[in-house]
Amino acid sequence: LFEGPWDFVWASTRIDDLPPMVGQEIAFAGRSNVGKSSLINALTRRNALARTSHTPGRTQQLNFFRQVGHDERLTIVDMPGYGYAAVGKEKVAAWTRLIHDYLRGRANLMRVYVLIDARHGIKDVDGDVLETLDKAAASYQVILTKGDALKKSEQEAVIEATAAKIKRRPAAFPEVLLTSSEKGLGIPEFRAAIARALAE
Ligand code: GTP
Ligand code: MG
Repeated sequence: LFEGPWDFVWASTRIDDLPPMVGQEIAFAGRSNVGKSSLINALTRRNALARTSHTPGRTQQLNFFRQVGHDERLTIVDMPGYGYAAVGKEKVAAWTRLIHDYLRGRANLMRVYVLIDARHGIKDVDGDVLETLDKAAASYQVILTKGDALKKSEQEAVIEATAAKIKRRPAAFPEVLLTSSEKGLGIPEFRAAIARALAE
């Protein structure tokens, strides 16, 4: 599914500036610096497809990536991180609106992957996004990132605690995956989960 070359195709800062819907789409949402761009690079085996950064707020638009030369085309969307105050209130409000509008109105959006830092778990800002997704009936799965920072026993505990937290959320896929883009942890499992979501 992820084989072959990937290309950056479009960046949108406004909801009326989205690229046409082609094939199926999946999107990556999560707090600033949670590791969205890194995970996209790990999945696509491209080191610098999505730009990563130590500075939160690196990704400031909806970035669309598409497989080149495939019939059943998959588009991956890298979203601006939420919950990062230092960029200024106005900008945060604009991003939040863009994210929410996009999540509500994209007909070919098959699943949203909501990334949560395994060291921190689900925070209030994440809860707000999950609420939006539930209200929009947009199917989503929670993916824990930076799992390499935890010991094996801690990894299992955070998976369980996170799964318990989303249990009653109507649009949430019940299985929580733990990943590490840096160490390749959970990446094959995540690829398989995406393939299943697209086949549903
Ligand atoms: P924004 O675009 O600002 O919202 O950030 P992002 O969610 O795209 O995060 P990005 O992928 O740019 O990564 C942010 C920081 O986390 C970088 O310093 C990465 O090196 C680090 N990081 C990403 N993935 C991992 C991981 O699996 N393990 C560890 N330890 N660090 C990671
Ligand atoms: Mg990013």
